[in-house]
Amino acid sequence: MTGGRLSLVQSPRIAVLGAGHVGPVIARVAIEAGYQVSIAASGDPDKIALISQVLAPGAEPRWAADAVADAEIVVLAIPLHKFATLDPALVADKLVVDTMNYWPPVDGVQEMFEDSRYGSSQIVAHRLARSTVVKTLNHIGYHELDDERRPVGSPQRRALGIAGDDPGAVDLVAEVIERIGYDAVRLESLGAGSLLEPGGPVFGAFLRRTQFERAVRAEAA
Ligand SMILES: NC(=O)c1ccc[n+]([C@@H]2O[C@H](COP(=O)([O-])OP(=O)(O)OC[C@H]3O[C@@H](n4cnc5c(N)ncnc54)[C@H](OP(=O)(O)O)[C@@H]3O)[C@@H](O)[C@H]2O)c1
Repeated sequence: MTGGRLSLVQSPRIAVLGAGHVGPVIARVAIEAGYQVSIAASGDPDKIALISQVLAPGAEPRWAADAVADAEIVVLAIPLHKFATLDPALVADKLVVDTMNYWPPVDGVQEMFEDSRYGSSQIVAHRLARSTVVKTLNHIGYHELDDERRPVGSPQRRALGIAGDDPGAVDLVAEVIERIGYDAVRLESLGAGSLLEPGGPVFGAFLRRTQFERAVRAEAA
């Protein structure tokens, strides 16, 4: 899907892939922001019915293929060491939001992600060659994602970064981030998204918009 077509979508339907720690929280905050959300794990939706009901009421548990088929935005909230189990054809032509981080102590050494010339989302995008990949939500913990939402204009509103190469897709995801309750700071490219990764200047940091912009600019300089 191209950015031009995406920018016409008024209130995109969201499919969250992953029903572990962060997936249900992303589903919940998106529902509370007014989006229609489905959620899927790697198998039978019956297995995530209870967790969805409790942690993300209103999110529809579905088979991944069904959730993705009806969605304009697909959020990848699966451990990176499981990424190879995701069939790229499943998310072809979709806007994919990559929330994943590469953490060798947790993920083990994943050869695919060992090339330090590229950010992990660039490697994801390379494998998902028919999808449009945008990186965000990887640099905030799942508890914080729930707790730190604030309305526009609040002095305590936290900023989150968004990185992508397709401006229409970035705009659409930025609107989701804003509606959820965060200020969206656009980075210049998917490659610049490596600034959002573990060890980077904004990973896990509570920063307001100007502080966030300063931190990524200083690192990029
Ligand atoms: N935890 C956080 O606070 C946080 C915050 C931001 C970003 N992240 C990133 O988000 C990712 C997920 O983190 P997590 O802590 O939520 O992990 P987690 O709790 O281990 O999540 C596991 C979930 O992923 C599902 N899954 C695995 N392979 C799948 C596939 N091919 N299709 C659909 N679902 C699949 C699993 O389903 P089954 O049980 O059916 O296999 C399970 O529901 C990581 O890359 C992490 O770095 C985490």
